[in-house]
Amino acid sequence: MSVVRSIVTGSGSYLPEKILTNDDLAKMVDTSDEWIVQRTGIKQRHIAADGEVTSDLATAAAKRALEAAGCEASDVDTIILATATPDNTFPASAVTVQANLGITHGYAFDVHAVCSGFVYALTTADAYIRSGMSKRCLVIGAETFSRILDWDDRTTCVLFGDGAGAVVLEASEAEGLNTDRGILTSHLRSDGRHKEKLFVDGGPSATQTVGHLRMEGREVFKHAVGMITDVIEDAFAATGYNAEDLTWFIPHQANKRIIDASAKKLKIAPEKVVTTVQWHGNTSAASIPLALDMAVRDGRVKKNDLVMLEAMGGGFTWGSVLLRW
Ligand code: UT7
Repeated sequence: MSVVRSIVTGSGSYLPEKILTNDDLAKMVDTSDEWIVQRTGIKQRHIAADGEVTSDLATAAAKRALEAAGCEASDVDTIILATATPDNTFPASAVTVQANLGITHGYAFDVHAVCSGFVYALTTADAYIRSGMSKRCLVIGAETFSRILDWDDRTTCVLFGDGAGAVVLEASEAEGLNTDRGILTSHLRSDGRHKEKLFVDGGPSATQTVGHLRMEGREVFKHAVGMITDVIEDAFAATGYNAEDLTWFIPHQANKRIIDASAKKLKIAPEKVVTTVQWHGNTSAASIPLALDMAVRDGRVKKNDLVMLEAMGGGFTWGSVLLRW
């Protein structure tokens, strides 16, 4: 049977030049490199320059993804940008990316699912492609979380960083088998009862301010591993695959302890896990495409590899995407 699959034809990423180390942070709040590394695995994070906004990071990552895919910006008909830190309340930062790339056809919009944003955006793009509404999508995760951190709050400011990652996703005829290249299955979840465990205490309608990120870290941690493993097991059930079949596990990069505990629970071998949290911190919607692009460019992820992506974040939102590269 002939079906349409969404295949990734190129990836790209961008990190701002400025690096903030744990030692730098220890000069700003009562913390230490030892505490941060032990509790999170994070050693450093990148911070956007003054005046550098989310759409700038997104545009840079998108250009690299287009180059890797060997296509022109004008070949793209859809841009979906996952971000919780848009340039402005509106318009969507995706339309700024569209203009930056010189695209005047098609459509662009933002998806807001915080740390699960890239998984949501990829799933949305896949649905648009399989329905015929889109042929070639730029799917981007980009964040400037440094702008919504309370830099006096040591429980949150040490965790996050800025960055962007992107993929080109395009329609391809396939046989409808698990051996097809492209997205094989996606599973999205949310549960708004948990919204106060990880949120921003401002917004245009509520306070007319931007606000700062607030998190009950221990509570989020408590739920994370169970939610992550649930949606990965959903992907296994939908395809008949199991942990041994995976070539790579590319999780959202919030905390090394959460990544290790999830992999252990799922029996995914440690050498299959791509980890960038040590260098990037938690870049929210950007963390998966940043890790993915790094593993593609250093030669780990190769054509036909079976790759599991997963994320969990504010809302709570969570989800998985299983794809064949
Ligand atoms: O991406 C979206 C999803 N987000 C996450 O997945 C984050 C999930 N949560 C976590 O990763 C962890 O809960 C944290 C890394 C945020 C915290 O680690 P924890 O092991 O849960 O520590 P804790 O919150 O239980 O705090 C332990 C102690 C506390 O002191 P007391 O009460 O034991 O005296 C904190 O005040 O560590 C203290 N603490 C710090 N000490 C030094 C909290 N932050 C810091 C800090 N430096 N930066």
